[in-house]
Amino acid sequence: MWYNMKVMELFLDPENVGVIENSNGIGEGGDPHCGDHLKLYIKVEDNIIKDISFQVIGCCAAIASSSMTTILAKGKTLDEALKIKENDIVDALGGLPEEKIHCSVMGAAALKNAILNYYENNSDA
Ligand code: FES
Repeated sequence: MWYNMKVMELFLDPENVGVIENSNGIGEGGDPHCGDHLKLYIKVEDNIIKDISFQVIGCCAAIASSSMTTILAKGKTLDEALKIKENDIVDALGGLPEEKIHCSVMGAAALKNAILNYYENNSDA
């Protein structure tokens, strides 16, 4: 299996790239096997992810997966976003080559870490 058009489109023109200066949750994820690294920023209001962005050092699949993670999470409640798993990201991308499935793992992990970080920062939320 090769990269499909959806993956290539998000790789070439990814959505939600960058830093949210007034984010209230930051999460990181990485793949120790290849050294790739993802940082996710979330801006939560009223228990909803109003804004989300990412920075990544990684392969084509990592960039597309990270962007898809932000697309899936935007507008979700925190509980809904916590349920986003790597297979949801892969499905939303229309599939990834088998040897690139692992690249989607850090998206789900970074999202979870960003939400946990939000809870830590806003323990009265
Ligand atoms: Fe490292 Fe894709 S090869 S995340």
